[in-house]
Amino acid sequence: MKLSYDSKYQLKESFADFSDFLKKHQDWTGWLNLEKLSEESLIAKIIEKSQYIRENCDVFLLVGIGGSYSGAKAIIESLKGYFVDSKPEIYYVGNSLSSEYLFNLKEKIKDKDIVINYISKSGSTLETKVVLEELEKLMAEKYEDSELQKRIIYTTSNPEIVPEGFDYFLIPNNVGGRFSVFTPVGLLPVAVAGIDIRELLDGAKAVDQDLAKEYALFRKKMIESGKEIEAYVVYEPKLDHLLEWVKQVYAESLGKNNQGIFPAGLVNTRDLHSYGQYLQEGKQNVFETVLVVDEKVEIMVPAYGKNLSEINKIAQKATTIAHQERVPNLIIEVGILDAFKMGQLLQFFMLSCVMSGYLEKVNPFDQEGVEGYKKEMLKLLT
Ligand code: PA5
Repeated sequence: MKLSYDSKYQLKESFADFSDFLKKHQDWTGWLNLEKLSEESLIAKIIEKSQYIRENCDVFLLVGIGGSYSGAKAIIESLKGYFVDSKPEIYYVGNSLSSEYLFNLKEKIKDKDIVINYISKSGSTLETKVVLEELEKLMAEKYEDSELQKRIIYTTSNPEIVPEGFDYFLIPNNVGGRFSVFTPVGLLPVAVAGIDIRELLDGAKAVDQDLAKEYALFRKKMIESGKEIEAYVVYEPKLDHLLEWVKQVYAESLGKNNQGIFPAGLVNTRDLHSYGQYLQEGKQNVFETVLVVDEKVEIMVPAYGKNLSEINKIAQKATTIAHQERVPNLIIEVGILDAFKMGQLLQFFMLSCVMSGYLEKVNPFDQEGVEGYKKEMLKLLT
């Protein structure tokens, strides 16, 4: 991985107190202990369970919201690529309250073999509880009790929610939702998708701490120069949900105390035909973080005598030049994205986010603000 940005930004600041900052929040830093998260007994159990799921269902339902689904979806969509007939088919459920979605999904899958992974750290999130209850009705119609017990797998920090006889994976207490991608929250669904989770974890362990610092310092410079919006940009549509994951990690971790940068996501070149106008001539309150990956396929475009992947890179470079004056940007070059690089990238973003919390004097691990809508909803519901 390589970072590049305009050399006029001098990024120097001491991180001397960073270890004290981590110590202060030690109840939430379990995700940094990758050796523990990747203990062989746990990885072997996850792989064994993923094999059972792959062999016994056509449809795998990941019921979760926020940090309890986003990382897995980001990894699977980014690494599996386009138009792949995956077995089992994977659906992400419980991240909305859409009855139309749930109804149509049930219609689509009712005659297929199903396994559910219910992922909720607290076990009390309304969206996922409601959806699980509805899906349980379908499962009870299809399967005897002993079969049902194998087909609903829980991932939680709260084993009290797990009915007797059902299997579950524990989310360590010291790992918060949006930092839990390298626990069974992310690892089980990713293994079900056939992705090598050992490679993923090896990549996470190989994170470059200095690059993470550099990125956090660049963001701080942007805040100091009055920028309010960070546009995360990709040139590969399959990375769309990766941007959703990054947005979730940064918005929920750093948007507090009346401060924080608003994260946005752009998939180019599509969004050059919409947001491109704003960036070129709108309010100058945005900076861009551009994620560049190399493509595996080459298609020659005779009109330009170049491969389409080269033209895509040229579009990215041209945009950088065109925006430069008004929209400062930082480029993250990843190379070909595989499981190892993906692990490295996700750990880079999580670590750098916490470093930003340190620099911005914000606790990145809580999310009191999220309770606002829940309280109002409870009042209206009762
Ligand atoms: O990052 C977080 O902590 C949140 O986004 C949670 O992951 C989300 O609210 C889901 O919570 P739970 O896993 O308890 O259902």
